[in-house]
Amino acid sequence: MLSVIYISVADPLIGEQDIAALLVQARRNNQRDALTGALIFNGHNFLQLLEGPADKVDACLAVIRSDPRHSGMVEIRRREIAERAFAEWTMLYDPQFRGHDDALSRLAGSGRLDPQDTLMMENFIALGRRTRPSGALGD
Ligand SMILES: Cc1cc2nc3c(=O)[nH]c(=O)nc-3n(C[C@H](O)[C@H](O)[C@H](O)COP(=O)(O)O)c2cc1C
Repeated sequence: MLSVIYISVADPLIGEQDIAALLVQARRNNQRDALTGALIFNGHNFLQLLEGPADKVDACLAVIRSDPRHSGMVEIRRREIAERAFAEWTMLYDPQFRGHDDALSRLAGSGRLDPQDTLMMENFIALGRRTRPSGALGD
C-alpha cells in the first residue's frame, strides 16, 4: 500500500460549504476505490494524506491535480506502508483542528499516526494560524 501527502494552494474564494461538497464527492469515490486519508484546510492551503492501493492512490492524485478548486500541488511525502493510519475514514476532515480533542489529535496521541506525518500536519496547521503583527516586516 502507498501513502502520499501533498500540499496545495486553495482557490481564494473557497469556503466551508465548498469543502463540504468536495468531501461528499471525495468520500463516495474513496469508498469505491478503497482509499482512506485526511484532509486539512489551514485557511489558505490544503494538505491531504491519501493511502490505499498504489494504482488507486496515483489515479486519484492525477484527478485531484487538475481540480480547479486548488493549484500548485506538491507531494511532500510518498512511502510504502504496511498498515493504514486512517482505516476508519474515507476522508477525515475537521474544520477546527484546533482543539486537543479532535480526531487528528486523538489519532496522533494513540501512536497510530506516523511521527513524521504528525509533524507535517501539525506544522501545516500552525502555518495557517500564524498572524503577523502589522509593520513587523519590511521596515
Ligand atoms: C483538495 C482536494 C482534495 C480532493 N480529494 C479527493 C479525494 O480524496 N478523492 C476523490 O475522489 N476526489 C477528491 N477530490 C475531488 C477530485 O478532484 C474530483 O473532483 C473528483 O474526484 C471527481 O469525482 P467524480 O468523477 O465522481 O465527479 C479532491 C479535490 C480537492 C480540490
